[in-house]
Amino acid sequence: MPNERLAPVDELAATYRGIIKTRAYRSLLGISDVQDDLKLREVLARYLGETRGLNCDPENILITRGGQMSMFLIASMLLNKGDNLIVGKRNFYLANQVFEYNGANLIEVSSDNEGIDLLAVEKICQSMPIKGIFITPHHHHPTTVTLALERRLHLLELSRKYNFAVIEDDYDYDFHYDCGPILPIASSDCLGNVIYFGSFSKILSSLIRIGYLVAPKEIILELKKVKRLFDYPGDSVMERTLAELIRDGIIQRYLKKALKAYKARRDLFCHILETKFEDLFRFQKPSGGMAIWAEVLKPYSLDKIADAALAKKLYIAHGEKYALKNEKPHHIRLGFAGLNEDEIRSALRILRDVSSETISPKNEKGVFSKL
Ligand SMILES: Cc1ncc(COP(=O)(O)O)c(C=O)c1O
Repeated sequence: MPNERLAPVDELAATYRGIIKTRAYRSLLGISDVQDDLKLREVLARYLGETRGLNCDPENILITRGGQMSMFLIASMLLNKGDNLIVGKRNFYLANQVFEYNGANLIEVSSDNEGIDLLAVEKICQSMPIKGIFITPHHHHPTTVTLALERRLHLLELSRKYNFAVIEDDYDYDFHYDCGPILPIASSDCLGNVIYFGSFSKILSSLIRIGYLVAPKEIILELKKVKRLFDYPGDSVMERTLAELIRDGIIQRYLKKALKAYKARRDLFCHILETKFEDLFRFQKPSGGMAIWAEVLKPYSLDKIADAALAKKLYIAHGEKYALKNEKPHHIRLGFAGLNEDEIRSALRILRDVSSETISPKNEKGVFSKL
C-alpha cells in the first residue's frame, strides 16, 4: 500500500470541492453516452506517452475503478469457459480468482530473476491454444521480480506468432529505486495484442478507486459495453479531479517525493532484515515497488508468527494465498512503503520479538530493542 500521508490530499480535496461546486461538475451529469471523463483520458494520453512511451489517443483509454476492475473487464471480454490462460507460478491471488471466475483454465509457468520462463511459455503454445498471458512486468506480485527488457520483446514476438493476448498489469511502474523503469510491453506493440492497465490506487491511496486501461479502439468499445453493465457512469468528480492534478503537475511532483521516501524506507527495512533477521528470512532486496518477498526459513512457523504478531496489532499475512498446491506456506510479502521510519522500526521489533518467542519464549526477548 502507498502512504496516504505523503499524498497531496489538500490539493486533491480542494480540487474535488471546486469541481463539485461549479458548473463544470453539472456538465458531467445527464450525458447518457458518457462513461468516463474525456478530460482525464486526454490528460492521461499525454501523460502515459511522456512517462511510459505509450502511443495512445483518448479513444484508446477506458477509465475504471482500479486494477481489479480492469482485470475483471478484460477477463469477461476475453475469456470463454475452458480458455487457457498463462499466469506466473505464484501469482496475485485475486487475479487468478478473477480469471477462473470468468472460465479460464490457468496454466502456471515458473520464473527466475528475469521474469517468466519464455521457453516454457513457447512449449505450452506449441501444445495447445493459448488465449492470453497475464503479466505484471514491474515487481511481479508476489515475488517482486521485474521482467527483463529482452523477455518483454520476446513475449511480444510469441504473442504475434501464437496469436494470444498479453494482459499487462503495470501497477508498480512508478516506483524504482536503483535505475529507471523499463518501458511497458504495450509501448512496443504495434499490432494491438497488448491490453495495458495501471491505477492511481497504488500511487495516491488504495481508497482512490480510479484506474485506466489502454488498448486498441475496438477493444475499448467492447470493454465499455461490459463496464456499462455494472459501473455507469463511474466516479466523474474524482476522474476530473485527477485530470486537473495531472494537468497541473501535482501528481508528478508528489511521485518524486514519494519515490525518495520509499527508497529510504526500502533501504532501512532491508538493512534491518539483513542484519537482524538472517535466521528468519531469506530475501532479495527489491529494485522497486512497495514490498519485500521473503522466504521464511525453518524452523519458524509462519502461522504462529502471524498469529502472535496480530495479538500485538501487527498484521502479517499467513501466506496461504501464495502457497502452491500441497505446500505449507513459507513465503511472506512485507510492505514497507506505507510505514515511516519509526513505524518500520517498531513493526520489525514486534516481528523479531514474536518470531523469537515462537521458537524459545525467554531467550531472545528484548535483544532487538535497539532497532
Ligand atoms: C498486482 C496487482 N494488480 C492489481 C491490483 C489491484 O489494484 P487496484 O487497487 O488498483 O484495484 C493489485 C492490488 O494489490 C495488485 O497487487
